[in-house]
Amino acid sequence: MSSLATAYTNSFTGPEGQEDMPYLLTPGPLTTSRGVKLAMLADWGSRDIEFRSIIANIRSDLLAIANAGDDYECVLMQGSGTFAIEAALGSFAPRGRTPKTLVVINGAYGQRAAKILDYIGGRAYQTINKGDSAAPSAAEVRQALEVNPKIEFVFVVHCETTSGIINPIDDIVAVCKQAGKRVMVDAMSSFGAVPLDMDGTDMDIMVSSSNKCIEGVPGFAYVLVKRSLLEASAGRAHSVVLDLYDQWQAMEANGQFRFTPPTHALVAFHTALKEFKAEGGVAERGKRYQTNKDVLVAGMRAMGFETLLGDEVSGPIIQTFLAPADSHFDFNRFYEALRARGYAIYPGKLTKAPSFRIGTIGRLDERVFRGVLEAIAEVLKEMNVTNMKP
Ligand SMILES: Cc1ncc(COP(=O)(O)O)c(C=O)c1O
Repeated sequence: MSSLATAYTNSFTGPEGQEDMPYLLTPGPLTTSRGVKLAMLADWGSRDIEFRSIIANIRSDLLAIANAGDDYECVLMQGSGTFAIEAALGSFAPRGRTPKTLVVINGAYGQRAAKILDYIGGRAYQTINKGDSAAPSAAEVRQALEVNPKIEFVFVVHCETTSGIINPIDDIVAVCKQAGKRVMVDAMSSFGAVPLDMDGTDMDIMVSSSNKCIEGVPGFAYVLVKRSLLEASAGRAHSVVLDLYDQWQAMEANGQFRFTPPTHALVAFHTALKEFKAEGGVAERGKRYQTNKDVLVAGMRAMGFETLLGDEVSGPIIQTFLAPADSHFDFNRFYEALRARGYAIYPGKLTKAPSFRIGTIGRLDERVFRGVLEAIAEVLKEMNVTNMKP
């Protein structure tokens, strides 16, 4: 056992085998079930028939969860979520020196997509930038498409994890499709907990990763995309490792990754998918996270904290709280004292207001959040913070 794990042994008791480490109240890596952890206690050969069938099952399960029909493919990509975002942008964002891509930004992940396009080069883009706490509207996207009819491709984030806001993705996708554009949705932190209907909305591309709402461990990400787009992307990638078309071709040919697969992460994810189905899929997982959120937000408000977002736009994924202006409040102390009690929270990422975030996803239930609230009350008392107003 690591010294960190030893330090936390018996410090608190969790429902699901997290008893010797803090709960991760973060948007991933997140707390996983004991079953998911146990699945990793085996070494798999990447060529094993059984392992290849695990890959095939993961790909078909993900398509089913996204309601992606026969016209769609699922390509798995080694690395974190950003690797798959970059792979998809390199493969599908149109080339050209005049902007043919619209990047809709309302936080760090929209910004990152723009940065990726800058690095790749040769794929000019324009943006709608809403700062880091306002949602973009379908009307704004429609207007941008009318002003520049040369736009062919729109990038938008589903849950912008910077604040936790849920963007009106169905409306935005509808506007793009009415105008005959292709849409790529970064559903990294929402997929599996907030409904997403690729077939029904005619969404072209969706990206998410292994260590989010399906509750697996980090190691790979996935791109769900219309087969016609994938076929047309042959030879377009800017990078060998991030060549989605090649990755897809290899998976189709022999059921394997081109390069060393993250075997443990894949078998863990396979178990996570079984647990996801047993729980009741997107509806039940979303409900559990929503309860986590409701308990947490109500308790924090009762203590006097203010949330960045109103309840109508904040999703069940992560909650942003404005830091108290009280001079005794010190985020680092607050964080360490909570961590010592078994709860790892998350720093804020807002450009303007000091804040902190508490993730409500992962193998956590309302009992954990009642514990979080008790620990927060205790720590604030210890720090002598009496006024929670920002
Ligand atoms: C919406 C969104 N997009 C992209 C990413 C990047 O994923 P990763 O950190 O796994 O590269 C994240 C990570 O939390 C995210 O929440």
